[in-house]
Formats: sequence, C-alpha cells, structure tokens
Amino acid sequence: ALPRDLEGLRVVVSAGGTREPLDPVRYLGNRSSGKQGYALARVAAQRGAEVTLVAGHTVELPEPAGAVLRRVSTAEQMREVVHEAAKEADVVVMAAAVADFRPANLSGHKIKKTDDQPDPVITLSRNPDILAELVTNRLPGQVIVGFAAETGDERGSVLDHGRAKLRRKGCDLLVLNAVGDGRAFEVEENAGWLLAADGTERPIPLGSKAQLAAAVWDAVGEFIRH
Ligand code: C5P
Repeated sequence: ALPRDLEGLRVVVSAGGTREPLDPVRYLGNRSSGKQGYALARVAAQRGAEVTLVAGHTVELPEPAGAVLRRVSTAEQMREVVHEAAKEADVVVMAAAVADFRPANLSGHKIKKTDDQPDPVITLSRNPDILAELVTNRLPGQVIVGFAAETGDERGSVLDHGRAKLRRKGCDLLVLNAVGDGRAFEVEENAGWLLAADGTERPIPLGSKAQLAAAVWDAVGEFIRH
C-alpha cells in the first residue's frame, strides 16, 4: 500500500492540452495525451490528498479514483478553473500543455477556400501564462510546480534551459523532461530532472508516469515539511 503522506493536503493538477478555436469547426491543438497529469492526480489521491484535476483534451483515460474532475477546452477556460481551484489549494501542479498562442480572431463561420481570394493567413495572439499568474497570486505557503519540455540546442543543454525556465517562472519546483526523438509525448514512460528553487537538482530515472508522479509528490512533501 502507498503511504498516506499527503493526507490533509488540497492539490490542484492540470492535465492535457488546450484547443484554441479558429472557426466553428477548426482549432489549434497539441499532442498532449494527459497521461502524466492523470497519473499525478491518481497518485496524489492514493496518498490521501484531496485532488481537483483540471483536464483539457486528452486521449481516453480512466477517471482517477477519488479526484474531482473538471473539464475545460481553451486556455482561457483552463485559466479560470485553475485560478478558482487554486484559491483553496496547498499545492498546484501545472502539467497541462497550455497553448502559448490562440488565433487572434475567431471566425463566426467556417473559413472557406475560394478561387478568387488569396489563401487565409492566421494571426496569433499570446495566451496568458497561467503558471506565472499562479506564482504572482500565490497564497502564503502554497507550493507551485511547473513542467517544462525542452530540447538541447546551440544555446544550451536541456538542463540549462530548465534552470532558466525555473528562474523565469518563479515556481518552487520544475519537472523537466527531455523531448524530441519520440520521448515524453504520447508514450508511457518519462524521464528527466526535478529542479527546485533552492538549487537542488535530482534526476528522475526513466520509468512509468506513475513513478514520475511519485517522485514529484515526494519532492512536494519534503518542500511542505521544511
Ligand atoms: O513556457 P512553457 O510553455 O514551456 O512552460 C510550461 C509550463 O508553464 C507548464 O507547467 C505549463 O502548464 C505552464 N503554462 C501555463 N500557461 C501557458 C503556458 C504554459 O501555465 N500559457
């Protein structure tokens, strides 16, 4: 049996991807499956936490037992529901793939292809960064956890990018996944690092998303006890 070490904690977990509508039939989306966020919610509930799972679009997944599930579609809806739930939360984990941009204009009718008009151009607007807003509005003692999926490039390694993102976002913990080459997205296994604001860095060995979830809750538990 799992330890009930999260008993008495109220946690909010976001999961899945948002969809940003372009017209009544089209949207911009992403490939998030929601599996990591669901695993976080399931493990937290098993360890005794009171869990609200704010889920965007996911593949078909079993509802995590014991969690309150709130479904959303767009980044704007996710923002509203996450902020509302965060007002009563000790811990917020943003595992969702929130769209960074949305179509600047939502067409009221289906965009048509025409022979006498130029092809349409989609202009994007920036979405609010929910994680950054949570940090700004943080309650005393509230623990905020972000996720980052990074690739290495000429400007730095995956770890360099993760450290910079932790500082930029101001959260307490950042779960850093190396992506690219078929890693992390749409697969069952995940690996990476857990970076803490105090500079602590721990590797997360390749394992199931439930194992990664357990490592995150272990780190959150330590954070709350100290
Ligand atoms: O900047 P980036 O999108 O890589 O940051 C990822 C982290 O920020 C994730 O925890 C994600 O849930 C969160 N995020 C957010 N709102 C956005 C974009 C990302 O909360 N608009």
